[in-house]
Amino acid sequence: MGKCLCFFRAGIHNLKSMKLFILVALFGLGLAQHNSHFRHGRTAIVHLFEWRWADIAAECERFLGPNGFGGVQISPPSEHIVLDHPWRPWYQRYQPIGFKLCSRSGNENELRDMITRCNNVGVNIYVDVVINHMCGSGGGEGTHSSCGSWFSASKRDFPSVPFSKVDFNDNKCRTGSGEIENYGDVNQVRDCRLVGLLDLALEKDYVRGKVADYLNKLVDLGVAGFRVDACKHMWPGDLSAIYGLLKNLNTTWFPGGSKPFIFQEVIDLGGEPITSREYFHLGRVTEFKYGAKLGTVFRKWNGEKLSYTRNWGEGWGFMPNGDALVFVDNHDNQRGHGAGGAAIVTFWDSRLHKMAVSYMLAHPYGVTRVMSSFRWNRHIVNGKDENDWIGPPSHADGSTKSVPINADQTCGDGWVCEHRWRQIKNMVIFRNVVNGQPHSNWWDNQSNQVAFGRGNRGFIVFNNDDWDLDVTLKTGMPGGTYCDIISGQKNESRCTGKQINVGGDGQAHFKISNRDEDPFVAIHADSKL
Ligand SMILES: *[C@@H]1O[C@H](CO)[C@@H](O)[C@H](O)[C@H]1NC(C)=O
Ligand SMILES: *[C@@H]1O[C@H](CO)[C@@H](O)[C@H](O)[C@H]1NC(C)=O
Ligand SMILES: *[C@@H]1O[C@H](CO)[C@@H](O)[C@H](O)[C@H]1NC(C)=O
Repeated sequence: MGKCLCFFRAGIHNLKSMKLFILVALFGLGLAQHNSHFRHGRTAIVHLFEWRWADIAAECERFLGPNGFGGVQISPPSEHIVLDHPWRPWYQRYQPIGFKLCSRSGNENELRDMITRCNNVGVNIYVDVVINHMCGSGGGEGTHSSCGSWFSASKRDFPSVPFSKVDFNDNKCRTGSGEIENYGDVNQVRDCRLVGLLDLALEKDYVRGKVADYLNKLVDLGVAGFRVDACKHMWPGDLSAIYGLLKNLNTTWFPGGSKPFIFQEVIDLGGEPITSREYFHLGRVTEFKYGAKLGTVFRKWNGEKLSYTRNWGEGWGFMPNGDALVFVDNHDNQRGHGAGGAAIVTFWDSRLHKMAVSYMLAHPYGVTRVMSSFRWNRHIVNGKDENDWIGPPSHADGSTKSVPINADQTCGDGWVCEHRWRQIKNMVIFRNVVNGQPHSNWWDNQSNQVAFGRGNRGFIVFNNDDWDLDVTLKTGMPGGTYCDIISGQKNESRCTGKQINVGGDGQAHFKISNRDEDPFVAIHADSKL
């Protein structure tokens, strides 16, 4: 909460530059890249982490399209190293060895087929792109790569692009080890190797051109935008030059003149010289404070209470609404990598996870992303998961398993599919139904019971206290009988879960036991009987 003060102070201090910034943002190239290009009033992205292209195509048609999901973030599609020690870790895909569209998730034909089929049911594809670096400096030599292309890490030779010695920052980096040694030194963070990964010389036109060719190929195939990995480690000026080379989106599915949506991974929890703000004019930025704070609030750590979230969003010192890409957890911090530590709420804490994700989806701040994970054998020693490297569910030969759908619509074979959980799926629909409506009718009990609406289109009530909630609240909704979409949903002319009666005055009575399977209730215009 102390964050509010800082935000105000920064605001007053930088009023002039803020004004200039707003002008640039409105009229510059940047603003266009903040637009997600969601179709049919859709509002949420799901990260189908490590899914195969064939499974994503099927998921778009059978589940994501029908349930109003706006888009999918896919794992990096470019050719990557194949690691044996440890065995096929998930992070091998963050070690490219070229830009052929051939990865653990499938080949170029499968990728093209997926993009086409998802687009045809109104679901956008956002590609996770790794352009800061290639594989690790100790990645060896040979054809141990997802397409079998030859490379040599020690010689800095990647002929499938081609990149050679002169295309890397080895001579620009000024540390003895060639590694980032001090995050307080901006030059090191951007010119040296991040955990051994060979750092591309993005100041070179040649390198920028090869990266842009890769992204433009994906644009032509029909993707709607990019999640850009490791942006803290790239100079904003280099990114600006690369984004400036990008084509407009494919007009088979998007209006003419549409720029790719760009959201940039910058981990900024404060305390480092590189800030998210340096990237706002280029596109949206991942707001890592969001999940770290929301997890702390729902866990009731550090004296936090849900009632303190009345001014959630910019009021908590988060980045401007129009620049933010938000999430409760991501593929890094759900396994202790990245940022947020133990506060992050993941599927392992499913009850809290459903609440936190629902809070995010009900709240108007930011473009939202839901995580969809695979299970692994956690082995936590002194607070660190020794198995944080484990890759997706796989066959003995290392190939990724497909995602089987059980009779009850859950997923099998270790795929968690949080996005299919009734509560989360229904809240994705809630967000679409209330799209554009203001945050309204706030109520709290000065503890962990809160409620808020979205104009006259939706209302949600949380009880994260250790006692029951039993109150009558002003909902702002038209009178009638509504189905709670958390304990059940509307099915034809009846509710499968709780039923909420809103009076002609917009008031409704809510009773939520702290021992309910899910201690929260949500209703919206389309859940009315
Ligand atoms: C756009 O997508 C369509 C359908 O896949 C394809 O035929 C067309 O070539 C693409 N446009 C460009 C400019 O690549
Ligand atoms: C919280 O809510 C309950 C009823 O919902 C109420 O009895 C209680 O006094 C409220 N305030 C606090 C601080 O717990
Ligand atoms: C919805 O209702 C129909 C019959 O009216 C029933 O066949 C179907 O199983 C129900 N679906 C759910 C999810 O309850």
